[in-house]
Amino acid sequence: MKISIIGAGNVGGLAAMRIAQEGLGEVILLDVVRGLAQGKGLDLEDSSCVLGYNYKVKGTDDIQEIRDSDIAVIMAGLPRKPGMSRQDLFNKNALILKDICLHIKKLATKSVVIVVTNPLDLMTYLALKITGFKPSKVFGMGITLDAARFTNLISRELNIPNTEIQATVIGSHGEGMLPLPRFTNVKGVALNELLDDEKLQQLVKKTVGRGAEIVSLLGSGSAYFAPSAAVSQIVRAIVKNEQRILGVCAYLDGEYGIKDACIGVPCRLGKEGIQQIIELDLNKQEKDALIQSATRLKEQFDNVTM
Ligand code: LAC
Repeated sequence: MKISIIGAGNVGGLAAMRIAQEGLGEVILLDVVRGLAQGKGLDLEDSSCVLGYNYKVKGTDDIQEIRDSDIAVIMAGLPRKPGMSRQDLFNKNALILKDICLHIKKLATKSVVIVVTNPLDLMTYLALKITGFKPSKVFGMGITLDAARFTNLISRELNIPNTEIQATVIGSHGEGMLPLPRFTNVKGVALNELLDDEKLQQLVKKTVGRGAEIVSLLGSGSAYFAPSAAVSQIVRAIVKNEQRILGVCAYLDGEYGIKDACIGVPCRLGKEGIQQIIELDLNKQEKDALIQSATRLKEQFDNVTM
């Protein structure tokens, strides 16, 4: 398997490390900044010799190197800076993403494309439109990260190990995110049966704000340990054809009453990418919130300038 990671910042570098250490495939790490990906590639290979692993990571600034990739992960893009609106960020990153997707379309025609660049749901939709690949092959990583954050907060609140919790988050990777207590279970018991409404609302709010909380603590840049772990989890599901169900930003064509939008929902993942979109039996309130989240995304997408 050839796995190209496009964007060698913190998330890209760490994702390359995790994917290489797990032996999931041959890793290409690419960045337009001269030397950045090459430097990280050499450093990663040196570290393999300390650890006794036998992997190769090729760092490069030449996009031709992504040729014939089986998986292309797009991380490239600017992070949101203070004072920058999501729309400004979208306009800037849309240009970067467009260029990358045109190269993927030409050089890696059979690849599964995983989008990580923010604003995630809009970038995923754009990548799908520009590559023209099948919707099952182009999707975004966002809500597995959000589900991990929800899990962590629940684990701390209930003082139980995170391995006992299966959290579900759907919706957009942003303010329109919907952590779902009814579909989150702790050893088979739904979370809404374990905690009162007020506590649940607090946990939901903290989950939605976790990315921003980390951004403000770091002072510059955004989270990278958990995002890179979430990327490698998705890559693993594809490489090993796991058929496991993970939340990804998927193109909906009528599922959940939503048409022509990319938004986070649970999907069964395997070697072809999305093998099945899972439709949860949402109640009216949950469904309305998801539809509202998708409607907001469509409005934002219509305002993009490229
Ligand atoms: C986060 C951003 C970076 O949630 O997507 O951390």
